[in-house]
Amino acid sequence: MIIVMASDHAGFELKELLAERARESGHEVVDLGPTSEDPVDYPDFAHHLARRIEEGQAERGVLICGTGVGMAIAANRHPGVRAALCHDAFTAELARRHNNANVLCMGGRTTGPGVAVQMLDIFLATPFDGGRHGRRVEKIDQEVRKH
Ligand code: RB5
Repeated sequence: MIIVMASDHAGFELKELLAERARESGHEVVDLGPTSEDPVDYPDFAHHLARRIEEGQAERGVLICGTGVGMAIAANRHPGVRAALCHDAFTAELARRHNNANVLCMGGRTTGPGVAVQMLDIFLATPFDGGRHGRRVEKIDQEVRKH
């Protein structure tokens, strides 16, 4: 899969780790920055990544800031982007199976590297269940299309 990744300064270290992990797992990673821990504004990176997903240039995305909250809020402004803020393996799995989430958000200041790698692996490997969940996800997108 083509995976886009981005962070702010607070998520930089975890982004580097997860990019390496995803590449080792055989995925093509497009790193949208930043390239250092110098302070940046997370919405710039969230919108850049979300546009890539919206335009179909990547199948999945990973966004990391201090808590993951700001990244998730910004990314979810984009039609077709379903960004899930996750803190554990179960949430990451259900975000895929039930919500067909295409962007995994997490916090560099809230999530340790072990859990982060576990969530990434699950998020990339777990398919969407479809069925009744497909109908529900479609209802999310119907509301977005009205505006
Ligand atoms: C930056 O200090 C911090 O506000 C940011 O990384 C993020 O946690 C915002 O949601």
